[in-house]
Order: sequence, then structure tokens, then C-alpha cells
Amino acid sequence: MSFTTSDVNDWTRSDIYHNSFLISPDATLDSTLKLSEQNGLPPYAVSAAQGKFLYLLAKSIQAHRILEVGTLGGYSTIWFAKALPPDGEIITCEISEHYAKVAQQNIDHAGLTSRVKILLGPAIDTLSRLHSDETFDLAFIDADKQSNVDYFIQAKRLVRNQGVIIVDNVVRSGRVADPIQSDPSIDGVRRLLQYIQNDSTVEATTMGTVGEKGYDGFLFAINKPR
Ligand code: DHB
Ligand code: MG
Repeated sequence: MSFTTSDVNDWTRSDIYHNSFLISPDATLDSTLKLSEQNGLPPYAVSAAQGKFLYLLAKSIQAHRILEVGTLGGYSTIWFAKALPPDGEIITCEISEHYAKVAQQNIDHAGLTSRVKILLGPAIDTLSRLHSDETFDLAFIDADKQSNVDYFIQAKRLVRNQGVIIVDNVVRSGRVADPIQSDPSIDGVRRLLQYIQNDSTVEATTMGTVGEKGYDGFLFAINKPR
């Protein structure tokens, strides 16, 4: 193995190695990915290591209420739901009825039905209908990247003072930082970065990641005390 260059095969091997010590095999999470694939959902769930990282983050702030934008098959939803106390709740927004049905099956199969509420429809409509007194400890934004700024503004409104907002896929193999590249997702991430640069109400950083899902990153933000 070379240490001067590496690719997704090396990163996957490394994920598998570390996971073998740190992440117990979980038949329910495996079957979530399997049912998602069988139903034609795109392979955009977070990796196991990222899912456990999100779970640990939620636990570290003792999150009771989590907001998710983009349910897909419910893989990250299930990781978050496992981090919640029995009276905790995750509200997750999904635009696709088909994805939401698959996710609901996965959540039911995981025994987490009572802790998860899937809200079907365009997330921007769903979020604008939520009252700001329905305070969340953490928001995870992982949907269409063009709408990142709109989702982020809603998440800021709905997350408590000092609460956490995480945005997935903000590095995109480094393409976000490459001036000759452009597509709606890249541009959606760039608009979010520009928005946060001029926003004095949050503190944020991007944490790049490599692993079985390639080279990408999370944006991590905290609502400053108001
Ligand atoms: C894409 C979306 C995601 O949320 C992800 O984690 C990876 C890829 C995409 O739309 O390409
Ligand atoms: Mg994602």
C-alpha cells in the first residue's frame, strides 16, 4: 500500500478495519441498506462510520429532539433515533412518497416507530410550517443541495440556542473548491458557504471526510447565543 496516493479502495479498506473494532455488526442497519437498494433508492446514505459519528454527536449533547432534512431510506434517521432517550423524537422530512415508504418500513423493522416522525412533502414547506417553539437540539441537512441555504435558515430558526446544525456533502471530492467546476449541487454548497460567511449568528467549520463513500465532508455549525 502506498502512502503517497490513496483512493476509495484504500479508504474503504481502512473503514472496514476501524469498523471491525469500533462498530458492532447490526443486522437491522444492514437490512435498511438492503431494502433501500432493492427498492431502487440511490446509494447516498452516510457510511457506517459516519452514522455512528452522528449518533455519538447526538449523544454527546444529550439530544432529545432532532430534525433531519432528507430521509432517503432512513439509515441516518435510525442512527440518530438510537441516540435518543425513550421520550426523544426525530422529525425527518422527505419529498418522495416512495422513499418515505421504504424508510417507514426500515424504521418499523428497527423498532423505532415511536421515536421517528416522517413528514412527507417538500422540506421547505414542511419546515416553514414548524413553529420555532418546537425546539430541536440538532439538525442534519442532507437533501437537495440547491436548497441548502433555505434549509439552513429554517434549521437556525428551529434549533435551540447553542444547538447544532450539520450539513452533509459540502466537499464533493474537492469540486466545491475548484473554480472551473460548477453544477447545481456544487453551487448550492457555495451559496451556503457565502451565506454563513456573512452570518454573525452561527459559528461553523467544514470537516472533510474520506472513507467508503469517497472524499466529502460535513459542515458543522452552532447557533450562537441570542
Ligand atoms: C449525493 C447526495 C448525498 O446526500 C450524498 O450523501 C451523496 C451524494 C448526490 O446527490 O450526489
Ligand atoms: Mg448525504
